[in-house]
Amino acid sequence: MPKVPTKLVSWDDIVEWSRGLAKKIKESGYMPDVIVAIARGGFVPARLLCDFLDVENLLSIQSQHWTEAAKVADRAIIKFPYKVDLTGMKVLIVDDIVDTGESLILARDYIMKEWKPDEVRIAALQWISPVAKLRPDYYFIEVKEWIWFQYPWTRLEDTYQFIKRMLSEEGKYKKEWSYEELKTKFMEWYDIDVGDEYFRDAIEMLVEKGFLSRIDKDRFRVKG
Ligand code: ADE
Repeated sequence: MPKVPTKLVSWDDIVEWSRGLAKKIKESGYMPDVIVAIARGGFVPARLLCDFLDVENLLSIQSQHWTEAAKVADRAIIKFPYKVDLTGMKVLIVDDIVDTGESLILARDYIMKEWKPDEVRIAALQWISPVAKLRPDYYFIEVKEWIWFQYPWTRLEDTYQFIKRMLSEEGKYKKEWSYEELKTKFMEWYDIDVGDEYFRDAIEMLVEKGFLSRIDKDRFRVKG
């Protein structure tokens, strides 16, 4: 059993899910004038929905709750608050996933109060129904058991944070690791294969950040 339930999501999955999500929105008769992407996870789905729904107006706001892969911060914040006038307009807020739902609740309340659109609805590719405090108006997949989804736009970030977390534990007992040992242990912990290019980039990032030092091409030492 992996220590963190994780699933790889491909670019093809994202296009298929976004197309399916757009179909549901269309079938409901809701025609948004503006799409608002929640940064950063909502960027790609929002852009694809603009295409599938033929929407030209795309804004973004950064509402953050998850600071790093599978690690939630205490509370959500709007990172760069700003004002626009959306009176008379229908808004569709888009995010990749509704997990706790807190960053979306914050963004929705902020947009309604400060941007004053006529109507706001929420769409997400995935909705983790047992933990979410909000049910999006539109979702493509209902997730019934909590999983960390490894989206293609967080592959490197997630991989280096996952390795870091793994070594914070495993590195207590073993300081020196070969590349192959790291890969094997990563598979044990997370049961996903991100491919060698991402894995090597992630290790390089940990070397750059000073968490690992390089002994030679394929051997590393956990610092500290
Ligand atoms: N962001 C917040 N929750 C997430 C999850 N379960 N998987 C991927 N990204 C997320």
